[in-house]
Amino acid sequence: MKILTIVGARPQFIKLAPVSKEIRKFATEIIVHTGQHYDENMSRVFFEELIIPKPDYNLGIGSKSHGAQTGEMLIEIEKLILKEKPDSVLVYGDTNSTLAGALAASKLHIPVIHIEAGLRSYNKRMPEEINRILTDHVSTLLFTPSEVGMKNLKNEGITKGVYNVGDVMYDAVIQNIKIAEKLNKFAQFGLQEKDYCLVTVHRAENTDERNRLEQIVEGLSQIKYSIVWPLHPRTRKFLKQYAIDLSKFPNIKVIEPIGYLEMLILMKNAKRIITDSGGVQKEAYFLKTPCITLRDETEWVETVEIGVNKLVGYDSELINKYGNQFIVDFIDKPLLYGDGRASEKIVKILKSIM
Ligand code: UD1
Ligand code: UDP
Repeated sequence: MKILTIVGARPQFIKLAPVSKEIRKFATEIIVHTGQHYDENMSRVFFEELIIPKPDYNLGIGSKSHGAQTGEMLIEIEKLILKEKPDSVLVYGDTNSTLAGALAASKLHIPVIHIEAGLRSYNKRMPEEINRILTDHVSTLLFTPSEVGMKNLKNEGITKGVYNVGDVMYDAVIQNIKIAEKLNKFAQFGLQEKDYCLVTVHRAENTDERNRLEQIVEGLSQIKYSIVWPLHPRTRKFLKQYAIDLSKFPNIKVIEPIGYLEMLILMKNAKRIITDSGGVQKEAYFLKTPCITLRDETEWVETVEIGVNKLVGYDSELINKYGNQFIVDFIDKPLLYGDGRASEKIVKILKSIM
C-alpha cells in the first residue's frame, strides 16, 4: 500500500505528525510539501520539533494568487502521481494545497482520503470554504472530527465512506504538551502564568480589509492584560501596508511565529486566547483556556455551544469586553472531538478497507 500525502501550510504539518506515525506502521508514505508555506518558522520548525520525516518532494510553489498557486500545485502534483503511482492520495483540512491534491488525484481516478472532512462555515467568501466543499465532493474516504461534520456531509448527499474518528489535532496536543512542559518552553518568554492574552490573526477576511484590522488592533490595545502576538507573515504584510504600528501600544508584544511546542505552552498558560485560527480555537478548548474568536461564524460550532468560545467578529468593543472578562468554568464540559486516538482509528479503517 502506497499513500501519497500532500501538505503545504503550517496547520497541515501539525496534523500530519500523529497520522504519519501511524500510517508508516502499515504502508509506504510519500510526503509531498507544496511549498505554500516556506519560512523556517512556518514550515521547517514543525518537521524538526515533531520529528516528521523530511518531505520526499518539495514543490516550492510559494506565495501567489489563488488561481496561480492552486494551478501550479495541480500541475506538479499530477506529475508526481503519475510518477509515484500511489494507491491513494491523502489531504488535510482546507487550504489551496488540499484542493490541488484532491483535484489532481480525483481526475486520475486515484482515491482521495480527506482528513478533517465535513467542516462548514457556510460563508463562501472564505477561500477555505470553497476548498473544503470541493475536496469533500471528490473524496472517497472522509474522516470527520465530529458528529457535526457527519451531518454537514449528509446534508450535501455525502454518506458513503464517511467516518467520525475525532480530531487528529487532539492527538497532536496530547502527544506534545508533556514534551513542551518537560522542555520548559515557557521560561524563555518572561511571562507570568494566566497574566497575558495570546493572540493570533491571519484570516484573509480580517487582514485584507484595513478597517477590520484597525478595529481588531483597537480592541486589543484596550485590554488590561499583556498581549502576546506571534505575527503571521500575511498579517505582518498587511499591517505594514496599512501603516498600522503595533509598537505604539504598550500592552502589545509582537513576536515572530513560534514552533508548536512553544505555542502549546503559551496557549495553556494564557489567561485568554484571542484568535481567528481554526486550529487554535480547538486547542484553546483542549488546553482549557477561554477563547475569543475574531470571526462572525466558526466551523467549530460545538465550542461556542458549550460556552468555551465567544464569537466577537472584529467589533473592538466586544474584543475589549471579553478580552478583559471572559471566564469559563471547564469542569463538566463535554468531551468534543474524540479521545485523542483519531490517527489510530483512521489507520485501522484504512487497513480494513484498502
Ligand atoms: C493559508 C491557508 C489558510 C490557513 C493558513 C494557515 C489558503 C487559501 N489559506 O493562509 O486556510 O489557515 O494558511 O496559516 O490555503 N507568507 C510568508 N511566508 C510563508 C508563508 C506565507 O511570508 O512562509 C506570506 C506571503 O506574503 C503570502 C501570505 O503570507 O502571500 C499568505 O500566505 P498563503 O499561504 O497564501 O495564505 P495564508 O494566509 O497563510
Ligand atoms: N501555531 C504555531 N505557532 C504559531 C501560531 C500557530 O505553532 O505561531 C499552530 C497552532 O497551535 C495550530 C496551528 O498552528 O496548531 C494553526 O495554524 P494556523 O492558525 O496558521 O491555521 P488554521 O488552523 O487557522 O488553518
